[in-house]
Amino acid sequence: MKSQLNITIPNRPGPSGNPSDENAANSDESKVKPYTLPEVLNFEDGKPVSSARQWNKRREEIVELFKREMYGRIPQNAPGVEWKLISEKDTITGKYPITEKRLVGVVDNSAYPDISVEIELLLAIPANATESVPVVLEFGFITSPFGPPRPEPNSFLFSRHEPNWKSQLISKGWGYAIIVPSSIQADNGAGLRQGIIGLTNKGEYRKPDDWGSLRAWAWGASRAIDYFEKDEDVDAGRIAIEGLSRYGKAAIVAMAFDERISLGFIGSSGAGGAKILRRNFGEQVENLAGSGEYHWFCGNFLKYASILETSDLPVDGHQLVALCAPRPVFISAGSPHEEGNWIDARGMFVAAANANPVYVLLGKKGFETTEFPHLGTPMIEGDLAWRQHAGGHSTGPNWSTWIAWASKYWD
Ligand code: GCU
Repeated sequence: MKSQLNITIPNRPGPSGNPSDENAANSDESKVKPYTLPEVLNFEDGKPVSSARQWNKRREEIVELFKREMYGRIPQNAPGVEWKLISEKDTITGKYPITEKRLVGVVDNSAYPDISVEIELLLAIPANATESVPVVLEFGFITSPFGPPRPEPNSFLFSRHEPNWKSQLISKGWGYAIIVPSSIQADNGAGLRQGIIGLTNKGEYRKPDDWGSLRAWAWGASRAIDYFEKDEDVDAGRIAIEGLSRYGKAAIVAMAFDERISLGFIGSSGAGGAKILRRNFGEQVENLAGSGEYHWFCGNFLKYASILETSDLPVDGHQLVALCAPRPVFISAGSPHEEGNWIDARGMFVAAANANPVYVLLGKKGFETTEFPHLGTPMIEGDLAWRQHAGGHSTGPNWSTWIAWASKYWD
C-alpha cells in the first residue's frame, strides 16, 4: 500500500497505551495543544451552509472525504447476500421468553469462488410480541448453539445487580440482534485479501481508497437491515445500532453511511470513531495507522501518519457525528478511573458538541450543554445524548439510560 502511495518513509510511531511507559499517550488535559477543526457548516470552498437543503450538499462533500481519506469506498461490484434461516426456536434470555432466529448471509461469490463469506446473525424477539418490534443491532459475539455456553466477554456485561442488555431490551418489549464482524471481514491486516474485501478484489491487494474493515463491518450491518426489512417480526423503521470500542467505531460508521439506522448507541468508540483526532490525548492517528489497526481504514489514511500530519486530515470526529444528523445518537463512555484515558471521553464529548450546530440547523434539540458534565450525568434531553458511566470499557452500565432515552423515540 505504501508503495502505491509513493510513501518511502516509515510511519511515525504512536504513543503507548500503557500509562507507565515513557512514551505513554497524553492523559493530562493541561497538555492538550490548541487545534483548529475543519468547519462542519462551511462548504469546501468556504461558503457557509445555512439551510437544510444546503446541508444535504455539504453532507455529500463530507461523505466523500471520509470515503476517500479514511474509511474507504465500497466497490461497485459488492455482491449480493442471500439470507438463510438456520434455526428458529423458542427459548429464554435471562428469564424472558424469546423467539431466536439464527441466520447466515451467504455472499454471492460467483465472481471469485476461492473466497466465501457467510455472515453470522442472530435475531431475538420477545416471544409474546403481537406486532413488529424495534430492534437493536449489536456488533458482537454469538455463542454457538452446539458447544457449552461461552461466557460473554466481561466488557459486554455490567454488574450482577442489573440484568444484561438483552434482558433489558426484551423486558421492554424490544428485540435485539447480533452480527459477528469477523464473519464479514477479519480484524487484522493479514486478512485484507480475504473476507468481503478480498472477495471484491478477487484475492488481490486493496487500492488506496478501497474500504477497510470498519466499512466492511458496516456494510454487513446494512445487509442485515436489508433482511430486517423483509422480516415481519421486525419494525425496520425502528432499528438502532450499538457497539463498543472498535465495534463502537463500526457502529457510528454504519450509522453515518446508512440512513435507515434510526438510533445509535456508540460505546467508547474513541479514535477513529466519535472522537476528535486532533486532540493529543489518548489514542492517536499514528496508533490507528500502525500494524495492528491500519486495516480498519483505507490505504490513504496511512498518509496522515507519515508524509502528512493529523492536522492535514480534511475531516475529524465531529463531522462523523454530524453525518448521523438529524437522527438521534447516544455517545457513551466509561470512567477514566476504570476505563483509562486511551479512548478519550472528553474528545468524544467535544466531537458531539461540535456536531451540534448541524442538529440545530436541522431543527433538532441537539446537545444540552457544551460544558463537560460530571461523571454519571445523563444528558438525554436532546437528540445528541451523552453519558459517561462509572464503569470500565463497556456499554453495560449505560443500557438502562440508553433505553430511557430511546423510549422517547420508540414508545
Ligand atoms: C485498542 C485500540 C482501540 C480500540 C480498542 C478495542 O485499544 O487501540 O482503538 O477501540 O482496542 O477495540 O477494545
